[in-house]
Amino acid sequence: MKIALGADHGGYQLKEEIKQALEGMDGIEIEDFGCDCDQSVDYPDYALPVAEKVASGECDRGILICGTGIGMSIAANKVKGIRCALVHDCFTAKATREHNDSNILAMGARVIGPGLAQEIVKIWLGAEFEGGRHERRIEKIRQIEQKY
Ligand code: RB5
Repeated sequence: MKIALGADHGGYQLKEEIKQALEGMDGIEIEDFGCDCDQSVDYPDYALPVAEKVASGECDRGILICGTGIGMSIAANKVKGIRCALVHDCFTAKATREHNDSNILAMGARVIGPGLAQEIVKIWLGAEFEGGRHERRIEKIRQIEQKY
């Protein structure tokens, strides 16, 4: 599985920690789109390349981190085909894969600590989309995208 990573200055440190953990996992390939230090940057500049790589299929999933995760999730969800979920607990990490087939995970480094963030990543990567009635709902999201 190829994963695109991105963060602003608020999420930089946590991105590095998550990257390190992912690098130790079998079958995971990482593409890191920055940022590369904790100097102030603008989160849409990092959300966009990650979202485009996932939308195009060049990466299977994306992980975006900023201070709250909110800016990243708003920006990523502007890209057609992206279903970015802002997650800060283990229950919704699993549920958003099973129900929403989310393809990008957003988290806020000022909201949760690194231990919980790592756990969320593990759960989110391991959970599968359930399809069925949820597929119909995803299709309705695609129709909204077509309308605008
Ligand atoms: C940066 O200060 C902060 O606004 C950003 O990391 C994020 O929380 C935006 O949603």
